[in-house]
Amino acid sequence: MPDDTIEARIPASCPVTISEILCRAWHHDLASLKPLLSVPGRASVQEPTTGETPLHAAIRSCGARTQKNNEVSAKKSDSVNIEAAKAVVHELFLSGAIWNDVDSNNETPGCVAARLVQDDLYNECVGAGMRAELLFGLLDGYEALDSDVEEEDDDDDNDEDNVNNSEDAAANENPEHQDDGPEDTILESDPDRAFLSPQTESTVTSAAYLRANLTYTDGKLVDDQNNGVMMAWETSIMRSSVDALLLGLPAGKRILNIGFGMGIIDGMFRETKPSRHHIVEAHPEVLKHVETSPDCTFGKDWEASAPSEGAYKIYAGKWQEVVPGLLEQGELYDAIYFDTFGEDYSQLRMFFTEYVPALLDEGGIFGFFNGLGADRKVCYDVYTKVVEMHLTDAGLDIEWNELDVDMKGLEKEGRGEWSGVKRRYWTLDSRYSFIGSTSSITDKEQNTGYLLSH
Ligand SMILES: C[S@@+](CC[C@H](N)C(=O)[O-])C[C@H]1O[C@@H](n2cnc3c(N)ncnc32)[C@H](O)[C@@H]1O
Repeated sequence: MPDDTIEARIPASCPVTISEILCRAWHHDLASLKPLLSVPGRASVQEPTTGETPLHAAIRSCGARTQKNNEVSAKKSDSVNIEAAKAVVHELFLSGAIWNDVDSNNETPGCVAARLVQDDLYNECVGAGMRAELLFGLLDGYEALDSDVEEEDDDDDNDEDNVNNSEDAAANENPEHQDDGPEDTILESDPDRAFLSPQTESTVTSAAYLRANLTYTDGKLVDDQNNGVMMAWETSIMRSSVDALLLGLPAGKRILNIGFGMGIIDGMFRETKPSRHHIVEAHPEVLKHVETSPDCTFGKDWEASAPSEGAYKIYAGKWQEVVPGLLEQGELYDAIYFDTFGEDYSQLRMFFTEYVPALLDEGGIFGFFNGLGADRKVCYDVYTKVVEMHLTDAGLDIEWNELDVDMKGLEKEGRGEWSGVKRRYWTLDSRYSFIGSTSSITDKEQNTGYLLSH
């Protein structure tokens, strides 16, 4: 359990201009903190050895609430005014604080809030994360503007002036700080930040993954860097996804699945006796496995068993290239599932905004493997919100189901199910999965999405 005392988090060795901000945040002293935040970068200073940021400080100092019989009781929080803490956190976000900076315990401010059961503060972090990620998404869509070097230099000079001015101001306010030099300033853009923010996007690029050699062994599919592409423990997630898409519906549905992997979900789709079952798969070695492995039953015989020509088919290629052709062919589906690997969120978003509404027939349902940021609860919750916003924009109705993941054998990095796998990409004990439907559906009752649970 981390040591959450102020002495441990803001040690005596902390440069004074930093400790001043951290202490004001820690004590929720908004009036004296606010003037210090007028300089860019100040809201996200980091203590050099503990990685404490003003957000961490403002949240951590609230202490833990404990939950008994659904009633939350305050321990240290008795004496803490949570509204004051919220006001400080809010102000820090307005002033540019970074929602996903990690400290020396590998905790973001949201992780600290979750551990201390400070739900209001946790929600502030999720909201700020969502806004930041939406903004990055928007900026991604624009070409970087050429910058005039001279102008940039001028700006830098100005920034520096501002920083120094503010340092002077801070030092003047507190005479103890008058000797502090500019080395005490850590700016938001400082490449030497003490601790790096966690990745919320895939660490493997799609192009590199599609070139990699793959191995099917022991209930897993891994690439040549030992990244887990698909693992048998995810079978329960696939089961719940199929049930949410098709349970209770008569046989003969039209299904599209993006990403074959180990064929787990396609085996389940096949059991529902679809009238059309299309699969899109890009990796040459997955396609070779389908054609040549005696363990795989989705080869030519399966395609030949279709009720009509071309009704059961694996399309070879990236979905980005194949799916426009399906649209041109006039294909329509009752259930669409999406689970690829190595692609970032922009691709999933493109799929559900540009293709899902056109490919889903009335009453149809779309689902996807929701593994975005699944190695950290706060990132997962942020991405769930981002997805919600974009799906709503795409005209889909949304409903989430929470599934309990059986974490037996999944608890430790490199052990149990993770043995031989580079990164434990799932650390949550529950997950949300999305099922949505097109807005064109007239019977709203039928069109509502379902929540999955496992
Ligand atoms: C996580 S696995 C899918 C697992 C599958 N749901 C199952 O039940 O076994 C991801 C699959 O998507 C494939 N893939 C990755 N990028 C793709 C793309 N752009 N188009 C089509 N398939 C892709 C991978 O090669 C891999 O087979």
